[in-house]
Amino acid sequence: MSNACVVGLQWGDEGKGKFIDILADEYDIIVRYQGGSNAGHTVVIDDSKFIFHLVPSGILHPDKQCVIGNGVALDPAQLLKELAELEEHNIPTANKLFVSDRAHLVFPYHKQLDLVSESEKGDEKIGTTGRGIGPCYADKMSRTGIRVAELYHPEHLKNRLKEVVQEKNKILRDLYNAPPLSWEGMYDEYIGHAARLSPYVCDTVELLNNAIKASKRILFEGAQGTMLDVDFGTYPYITSSNPSVCGVSSGVGVSPKHIHNIYGVMKAYTTRVGRGPFPTEMDGELGEAVRKRGDEFGATTGRPRRCGWFDAVAVRHAVMINGVDSAILTKLDVLDREETIKVCVEYKNSSRSYVTFPSDLVLISDCEPVYEEIPGWLEDTSGITDKDKFPEKAMGYIRFLEKTLELKITMVSVGPERKQVIRISDE
Ligand code: GDP
Ligand code: IMO
Ligand code: MG
Repeated sequence: MSNACVVGLQWGDEGKGKFIDILADEYDIIVRYQGGSNAGHTVVIDDSKFIFHLVPSGILHPDKQCVIGNGVALDPAQLLKELAELEEHNIPTANKLFVSDRAHLVFPYHKQLDLVSESEKGDEKIGTTGRGIGPCYADKMSRTGIRVAELYHPEHLKNRLKEVVQEKNKILRDLYNAPPLSWEGMYDEYIGHAARLSPYVCDTVELLNNAIKASKRILFEGAQGTMLDVDFGTYPYITSSNPSVCGVSSGVGVSPKHIHNIYGVMKAYTTRVGRGPFPTEMDGELGEAVRKRGDEFGATTGRPRRCGWFDAVAVRHAVMINGVDSAILTKLDVLDREETIKVCVEYKNSSRSYVTFPSDLVLISDCEPVYEEIPGWLEDTSGITDKDKFPEKAMGYIRFLEKTLELKITMVSVGPERKQVIRISDE
């Protein structure tokens, strides 16, 4: 029996949601291990479009279980909203979704601090999603966070909230000149959330390890992308968790020896939301055209995504860190109209070139991308389902990426829908 993980190999929004939904067919349990409602994972089935922020993207499969692990920053109001939306579509979640009692909760003060600290930074801001993710994980690490299990001890919760909100109010007032928050209102709100979430809450560490003993197959769902990883991404322009496979074990309480297969998802070009280095970013008009064709607007915030050419230097770094076994290439159709497609194969500054991603952002800012040019196929690929009907030049682009990344691409996506997928080789 083998378990697998799906990770993003760029700066997020690679199309992970679509492929988790597709791969879920072969697994029993789908598990989110990090991130929070900063994620926006899209699944399109015929006329229905679902965007999941916290609920694992396998939830649409009637016979699968889904787990939100301890490593997720859990915003209970957002989760309840998603559950209500699923109910409206007659998609059951009872006895199907399990939420870790160890997950850290996102509170209104986390979102408030996220927003005020960003606006204080002015031009230096990260461009966060404003979902309170950084402040929630900061509290986890500084041991002032409040976990799901604490919701079920009202007196204890009251005391914790009083104490924490008092401290946050000092920060809000003294550092940001922002209005204080009331712990009483928060307490009432979270006691309400606790009651509604209680059927879902359990010890998911036990659940998952028992499932492994029973030879159930698990699919771990990464959110964000490796280049946003707090340790391996473009720090400080990153998110505050480990989206790479490195986050799985601590994010769910399962030994790394139980992760057997790692799928990397990458777009045929690059996008990034928010600020930070982006060596292959396209200039104005071209960037606009790709954004329009690829519908590159954030699934969580609606912000326009910055667009650029495929960056093999960044993806090589992500492939190495994750130990990717095979890649899934998405949004190839978006390049259908390009006469020439560029791929950045190395970075170069006045003294040397780099084929893997440098850790030093100052150094990166002095580098220029070195491109190879590949002829475009100038054909509509969105209706192709058979590998043999694929334009030769499109296959040439895929083979070029495989060669420069030293990685096998097994599936290619040519549209948002479940069925718009071409298997080009076996795993
Ligand atoms: P995720 O965060 O990695 O799950 O990706 P998002 O859902 O944020 O963004 C991917 C977007 O591209 C979504 O709107 C998908 O419906 C869409 N999408 C996924 N695969 C393809 C594809 O192959 N072609 C096109 N045109 N759109 C795709
Ligand atoms: P999915 O799972 C793309 C980016 C934000 C910002 C940085 C920090 O849909 O791929 P945060 O709110 O996490 O503190 O913001 O990370 N970011 C994402 N970009 N896709 C995501 O998720 C993202 N989640 C966070 O835009 O640059
Ligand atoms: Mg997304």
